[in-house]
Amino acid sequence: MTSNKRMLLLCLAAFAGSAQAVDATDAMRGAPIDVTTRPPPLANPDNSDLRSSRSYAMQPPVIPHKIDGYQLDKNANRCMFCHTRTRTHESQAPMISVTHFMGRDGNFLAELSPRRYFCLQCHVPQTTLKPPVDNTFIDVDQMLYGTQAGESRQPPTPPQRAR
Ligand code: HEC
Ligand code: HEC
Repeated sequence: MTSNKRMLLLCLAAFAGSAQAVDATDAMRGAPIDVTTRPPPLANPDNSDLRSSRSYAMQPPVIPHKIDGYQLDKNANRCMFCHTRTRTHESQAPMISVTHFMGRDGNFLAELSPRRYFCLQCHVPQTTLKPPVDNTFIDVDQMLYGTQAGESRQPPTPPQRAR
């Protein structure tokens, strides 16, 4: 046996040993990675038409309606059919906000900025599912006043003015 072959065998043995030590369970599916599981059926997205409150001021609002079959590629943008400035009187959809008209240098363009063309980069439909990973996000209101967004809250008492 040449020394090259011996090295290769040694490497293979080391690799096999380390591969056995690794836990090969896919935590998301709860099955070993080499086992094909039956994916759960696609859940129905929220179609309530009720706008959700945002978890923080700069959050892209989530989509409260179905988007099945809406074409969104280089040829057509179905979202803009309703959300563009000149269509909202017919669609009653909220207009894309001013930030969507801003170019990368902060100038306002006449039309939707190419940076904002692919809406689903930031806006997503919602479904009620058990999240595979826990979320420890805390709303700023909860942090300041002990309430979540959407709950009525008592504003903090203003500080007493010194006399
Ligand atoms: C047929 C018209 C129509 C189309 C097409 C459409 N929307 Fe809407 N959208 C609405 C209306 C109307 C609302 C207001 C809430 C409601 O009625 O669902 C809305 C609400 C939203 C909101 C919530 C805004 C907020 O302030 O909470 C987002 C985000 C949104 N749409 C994104 C999209 C995206 C992304 C697409 C394309 C994938 C899209 N919409 C396509 C009509 C439309
Ligand atoms: C790069 C991320 C990004 C992309 C891409 C994007 N948005 Fe937004 N969108 C946001 C953020 C962030 C907000 C909330 C702050 C703001 O208005 O800029 C928002 C706000 C909105 C709102 C609420 C406006 C209001 O005044 O209540 C609508 C409607 C909306 N977007 C629709 C769209 C549609 C339709 C597209 C695609 C043509 C799109 N957005 C693309 C990030 C994005």
